[in-house]
Amino acid sequence: MSDRLYIFDTTLRDGEQVPGCQLNTVEKIEVAKALEELGVDVIEAGFPISSPGDFKSVVEISKAVTWPTICALTRAVEKDIDVAAEALKFAKKGRIHTGIGTSPFHIYHKLNSTPEEILERAVAAVKYAKKYVEDVEFYAEDAGRSENEYLARVVEAVIKAGATVVNIPDTTGYTLPYEFGEKIKYLMDNVRGVEKAIISTHCHNDLGMATANTIAGIMNGARQAEVTINGIGERAGNTSLEEVVMILKSRYAVLGIDTNIKTQNIYKTSRLVSTLMNMPVQPNKAIVGRNAFAHSSGIHQDGVLKNRENYEIIDPTDVGISESSIVLTARSGRAALKHRLEILGFKLDKNKLDEVYQKFLELADKKKDIRDDDVALLVGDVHRKESRIKLEFLQVVTGKTLVPMATVRLNIAGEKFDATASGNGPVDAAIKAIKQIIRRQVTVEEFLIQAITKGSDDVGKVHLELDFDGNKFFGFGAHTDIVTASAEAFIDAINKMPAE
Ligand code: KIV
Ligand code: ZN
Repeated sequence: MSDRLYIFDTTLRDGEQVPGCQLNTVEKIEVAKALEELGVDVIEAGFPISSPGDFKSVVEISKAVTWPTICALTRAVEKDIDVAAEALKFAKKGRIHTGIGTSPFHIYHKLNSTPEEILERAVAAVKYAKKYVEDVEFYAEDAGRSENEYLARVVEAVIKAGATVVNIPDTTGYTLPYEFGEKIKYLMDNVRGVEKAIISTHCHNDLGMATANTIAGIMNGARQAEVTINGIGERAGNTSLEEVVMILKSRYAVLGIDTNIKTQNIYKTSRLVSTLMNMPVQPNKAIVGRNAFAHSSGIHQDGVLKNRENYEIIDPTDVGISESSIVLTARSGRAALKHRLEILGFKLDKNKLDEVYQKFLELADKKKDIRDDDVALLVGDVHRKESRIKLEFLQVVTGKTLVPMATVRLNIAGEKFDATASGNGPVDAAIKAIKQIIRRQVTVEEFLIQAITKGSDDVGKVHLELDFDGNKFFGFGAHTDIVTASAEAFIDAINKMPAE
């Protein structure tokens, strides 16, 4: 058994399934290249049969990425496997990730089947995938709630059929760390031929135990961990890459297991994913949260100044946070902005840098200190600018004794439209005015306003969810004026709907 852990990143598959986090192909390639630079061993690039967009992303990522293995997900269905193999045809190293549910819930209540039939389907899927690629990973969905004895039979059979990696997902995030560790140990001790494959963990965070379960799995013999940047993923998310990697690095003396990750790239990859997916990182998130290395109490500050290790178990520079205290202001030049952007993982060509710099100057006019999150938002703005519908003008009249009124001008594919409306507040009035122009029956299902850092001059971020014809569309906007941020978020969601 090797003492090297393979890092399998599923940010672009399990992570990207989160509503509102969808990326276009260009953005996915940007993330894939950042993952390659970070040093992940496997990039799960998508589920090709699920949509033409996923298919295209797997193709383009396969072309763009040089050395990591590119993996495509399938169900244990021949058509899925055919399509995945087709999508992987440009991959220098391609892997098909096929599988089926093995828990009583999945066998009887999802697949309407029997354990024997599932075992046969598992073996058949692996054999079928082997016709296309040498590297086949099998997942036993809901392994966390599967019976160990039956799971061991399935694992043994798929290894015999040629699986090179067997994934043991805790799909519902249900198991306790000691149970998950025992499950992996059971498989290592009871599956004949287990040494011919790598056992992998894939833990979800429903009870906040994804990282603990992953570490328990590794301590009991798993040598691949399936993770996402910032722990994004379905529901409460997946195991976060940065946590697993930094646990192994910080506690190497106890665990003795290494990865290929260049940890100094962690912070910038985290920022890139958060920005492109419009998915904020909680301030107290381990390793990459804004406060992860901030010492605010006097006692702690004093202790850190005397010796960093009094209160820090990780050197922030190990994860690429070298100049976290640098704050840009209106006086910062283009070179300072470019340097900051590079630290945050954004490599922009001259034209994009000029655009971001212009936006930076506009923001610096309104806000004294420009921090990392602000800079990342400016980049996000430039990425989004190709939209069909743009907000050109917004004016609101509001106050304690006035009826709030908003006037908007939209530019729709080059044509200008104006409207005025009243509402129960300035945001409501602005959205009603926009609705008058776009004439679509949409309802706002969720609306969230957040300040990025602090101060009344801060940038406000708005995330909203619209319902149109039973489909959900997510929008995002950011501005020092929250009415503008709300209108931008509303328009962002409208831009994602199919054109009439
Ligand atoms: O959580 C899970 O079980 C999965 C599988 C499809 C690998 O994501
Ligand atoms: Zn999953």
